[in-house]
Order: sequence, then C-alpha cells, then structure tokens
Amino acid sequence: MATQMFEGRGHAAVYQKYRFAPGEELQQTILTYLKEKRANTAELVVDVGCGTGQGTRFLAEHFKKVVGTDISEAQIQEARDAPSLPNVSYLVCPAEELPFEDASVDVLTSFTAAHWFDIEKFMREANRVMKPGGCVAISTYTVDMSLRYGNCSEKLTKVFRETWDLILKYSHNRLKIVLEDYKEVFEALPFPDKKRITDIFDKIPMTIAGVVGYMESASPYQAFMKNDPKAATSLLQETEKK
Ligand SMILES: C[S@@+](CC[C@H](N)C(=O)[O-])C[C@H]1O[C@@H](n2cnc3c(N)ncnc32)[C@H](O)[C@@H]1O
Repeated sequence: MATQMFEGRGHAAVYQKYRFAPGEELQQTILTYLKEKRANTAELVVDVGCGTGQGTRFLAEHFKKVVGTDISEAQIQEARDAPSLPNVSYLVCPAEELPFEDASVDVLTSFTAAHWFDIEKFMREANRVMKPGGCVAISTYTVDMSLRYGNCSEKLTKVFRETWDLILKYSHNRLKIVLEDYKEVFEALPFPDKKRITDIFDKIPMTIAGVVGYMESASPYQAFMKNDPKAATSLLQETEKK
C-alpha cells in the first residue's frame, strides 16, 4: 500500500525551505549513466514523488520537458510557487497511477521517495509508461550523514547523530527500505539491464539552522511533533545550542 506522510502545509513549507537538491556527485552519476545508455537527449523526463521539486529543478537544466509528480497537493503547491525554468510542470497524482500514455516517457526519476510507494504497483506503472530504451534512475540519501566543519567535525557529527537517533524512534516502518540502501527497490525493478550504486558521497554545504531545519523536515520528526510537540521542539532547540 502507498503511504501518505507529506500532506501538511507546514511540513511542505519546511520541506521546501530546508531540503537540499541532489548533490553534485549524484547528479553527475545520473547524467553519466543516462549518457552511457544514450538517454541523455530525452524529450520527456518524469520525476515521481518530486516533493517540492528539488530534483525536478536539477533535471530541468538538462532536459527538454520535465514533469514533477507527487501525491501531496501541499508539496506540489510549494513546488509550483518556487522559481523554476519554463520547461517544468507539476502534477498531483500517485506514483502507482501516472497520467502518461504507454511507452511515452524517456527518463523516469525518483529522489528519496520510492520507499513511500506501493513498490510493486509503482514498478508495473514505470514499466508501462517507459519508452523502449528509456531509463529509470531511483535514488535516496541514507540517514548516516556526517557533518564537517574545521576541527570540530567529529563533535558536530556526534551531536547530529545523537539527535537523529532520538528522532528515528518515530520512523515509519518504510524507513527500513532506506536503512537497507534501497535493496528492495532495486530488486523490484522489472528491467534486465540494471545497476545499483551505493558509494556516492556528496558534500552539501549547510548552516547550523539548515541542519536543524533538515531534521525538522524529516518524516520521523513530524511524527514526533504530533506525538509530543513540547519534547520535539525542545530537542531541536537543545541540538541547535550544542
Ligand atoms: C522524502 S520526500 C522526497 C521529495 C523530493 N523528491 C526530494 O528529493 O526531496 C517523499 C515524497 O514522496 C511523496 N509520496 C509519498 N508517497 C507517494 C505516492 N504513493 N505517490 C507519489 N508521491 C508520493 C511525498 O508526498 C513526498 O513529497
């Protein structure tokens, strides 16, 4: 079954403000792969589970027509309100029912979203809409991030991970798919020619407020906030102080 976790307007606004675009190395990995498969001149690229459009906007710099799709109206509204190139549009629809003709999509991407989909149905749908010779690129970032700043990187990472561990207690069981590096998603891909890459290390410049905002945008934190708003708020305040 598909899971709806990103419906709130407040959550979408935090998401738009603090979620980062795919890092440089991930971008290059995807573009190089598409070139290798001769899919780099794609006409229609669809970014599924696009959220507020972080990945969609990156794709728009490289392809003719890019459509971001997401099940959450609030996320799509934020994506539409953000500045973007004229070749981008957005649609509210589930990943499992994409409003595209059979064999009409050249490249289909999904950034940090596939673990929320009904994987079996989504794969069937991806298979239906892809043109022969098209490419699918599904990625996620993992939860074990490291922070770096001068000589206090170790201390910063420790503070980050301690808070993160407390937040992760409120994780939906779908997060297991991320913790297992999308093995399940990869295995479900119904295409014979496929490649799994698990060693992409991107450095994303962020301020302290950015790191705390990133945690706030995470679905387990939003669950924590619903469960115990006082404790959730004070956890992030304490983390920022540290
Ligand atoms: C963690 S966010 C990722 C957003 C964006 N791709 C990014 O890289 O930041 C996951 C997104 O998947 C969307 N989503 C969850 N289940 C979905 C489904 N069944 N169909 C389409 N979108 C879905 C959520 O609404 C949310 O915007």
